[in-house]
Amino acid sequence: MRVVPNPSLFIFLFSCFLIGQTESRWFGKYGRQQPPKGLPVILVPGDGGSQIEANLTGKPSTVHYVCSKQTADYFDLWLNLELFSPLIIDCWTDNMQLVFNTTTGLSENMPGVDTRIVGFGASESVEWLDKSKASQGRYFFDIVDSMVSWGYRRGKDVVGAPFDWRRSPNELNEYLIQLKTLVETTYRWNENQKIVLVGHSMGNPLSLYFLNNYVDQAWKDKYISSFVSLAAPWAGSMQIVRLFASGYNMNYYRVILPPSHLRAMQRSFTSSAFLFPSPVAWKPHEILATTATKNYTVSNIKEFFADIDYMVGWEQYKQAARLNGNLTAPGVPVHCIYGTGVPTPEKFEWAAGYFPDYPPTEFMGDGDGTVNKKSATVCTNWINNNQGKKVTVHEVFQADHMAILKHPNAIELVRKAIFQEM
Ligand SMILES: *[C@@H]1O[C@H](CO)[C@@H](O)[C@H](O)[C@H]1NC(C)=O
Ligand SMILES: *[C@@H]1O[C@H](CO)[C@@H](O)[C@H](O)[C@H]1NC(C)=O
Ligand SMILES: *[C@@H]1O[C@H](CO)[C@@H](O)[C@H](O)[C@H]1NC(C)=O
Ligand SMILES: *[C@@H]1O[C@H](CO)[C@@H](O)[C@H](O)[C@H]1NC(C)=O
Repeated sequence: MRVVPNPSLFIFLFSCFLIGQTESRWFGKYGRQQPPKGLPVILVPGDGGSQIEANLTGKPSTVHYVCSKQTADYFDLWLNLELFSPLIIDCWTDNMQLVFNTTTGLSENMPGVDTRIVGFGASESVEWLDKSKASQGRYFFDIVDSMVSWGYRRGKDVVGAPFDWRRSPNELNEYLIQLKTLVETTYRWNENQKIVLVGHSMGNPLSLYFLNNYVDQAWKDKYISSFVSLAAPWAGSMQIVRLFASGYNMNYYRVILPPSHLRAMQRSFTSSAFLFPSPVAWKPHEILATTATKNYTVSNIKEFFADIDYMVGWEQYKQAARLNGNLTAPGVPVHCIYGTGVPTPEKFEWAAGYFPDYPPTEFMGDGDGTVNKKSATVCTNWINNNQGKKVTVHEVFQADHMAILKHPNAIELVRKAIFQEM
C-alpha cells in the first residue's frame, strides 16, 4: 500500500514556509523587534573545575612498578575515572602533585611531568570534566544548556576560561593575562557588548584577584557588565584545615577516594593554601581545630603547620593565603549567589593520638556543605562600598556547593543577570 501525503497538509506546510520567508524578509530586519539577546558570558570554574592533560616525559622514579615513567602523548589526567582504580590511583596522585620550591615561593610539576590545560575559550571543557561525559564530571553543563535554550551559542557568546586550579592566583600570571584578552576579544566578537563573568567556587576569589590586580576601573567600566558569583569561598573554607591535617575526600570528587592517599597531593596544591580560612571572616578567638593539647585559630596557623609536621604548608600559606588582602570589592556590579542550609564543618576535633593522620570529628554549622556561610556572605560587605556599583545578594536554601550549578533558582538568577533584569 502506498502512503500518499495528504495534499492539504502539504499546502499547509508550504504556505507556512512562504509566510516565514515573507515575514523574515519584510519584518525581520526592519519592523519587528529582535528577540532579546543576552550578554556574552565567560565561565570561570573552581577548584577541580578544569580538565588537565599530562605527558610523562621521563619520570626519575615512580611509586609502583605499574606506573609509567614515560608516555608518547598527552593523556587525560583530570578528570579520568579510569585512573581511580587500586594502585593506579597512586600513580595518579604522584602525577598530579606539585613540588613547592621554598626559594622561589612557587610550585612546579613533579619532575618528568608536563601538563597543559585544554579548552580555553571553548565551553565544553568546563561543561564536562571527564571527556567521556560521565555524570560525575558534569559541571557547567546545566547552565550552558539552559543558555543555549535562550539563544546562546557555545564558543561564541558563552565561553570558558579553564585554568590550572592546583595553583594559587600568584602562579597564574600567564592565565590572568589571557583572561584579560579573552574578555576583550569576546566583547569585540559580540558587537562590543559588555561581558558577564560567571564564577563557581574558587573561580570567584580568583576573579576578584583579577579584577583588583590586573585591570583598572576604566577597563572594568568598558568591558564588564557584571560578575555573578556562585558558591564563592571569599574568605576560604574550613574544609581546607582538615585537608592539610588528614587529607580530605572533597565533596567535589564525587568518586570514593581514600583521604590518606590524597593528602600529599592536596597539601602540595598552592590553591589549598589560597583557600585557607582568612581572618577577614574568622575572628582570632574562633577555634578551627582542637586536639587533646591545643586549640588552633587564625592566630596560631604557624603552630598548626608545625604540629602537622608540614612546614612547607606555612611557606605556601605565606605566599598564597592572603592574596586578596581584606577582600576589597571588585568595582563591578556583583550578583552574589550562595547556598545555605547544608551542614558544613565549622570545627574539627581530633582525639588524643589521632592528630593529624586520622579523620577528625566534625562539628557542623551553616553553609553549602563545602563553603561556610560566613565566607560566602563576605560579599554583603560590598553593598554601598563597591565604587558606586550595584551588589545584590541571593541565598539559595539547601543548594549544595556543586548542586547549585543545576538549581533552578540559581539558573534563573544567572538568566536575570545576563538579560540585565536585575
Ligand atoms: C611526550 O613526551 C615524550 C617523551 O618525552 C615525547 O617524546 C613526546 O614528543 C611528547 N609528546 C608531545 C605531544 O609533546
Ligand atoms: C628552586 O629554585 C631555585 C631558583 O630557581 C633553583 O636554583 C633550585 O634548584 C630550585 N630548587 C629545587 C628543589 O628545585
Ligand atoms: C580549647 O578551648 C576550649 C574553649 O575555649 C577550652 O575549654 C579548652 O580548655 C581549650 N583547650 C586547650 C587544650 O587549651
Ligand atoms: C586589613 O585590615 C586590617 C584590620 O582592619 C588592617 O590592619 C590591615 O592593614 C588591612 N590590610 C590590608 C592589606 O589592607
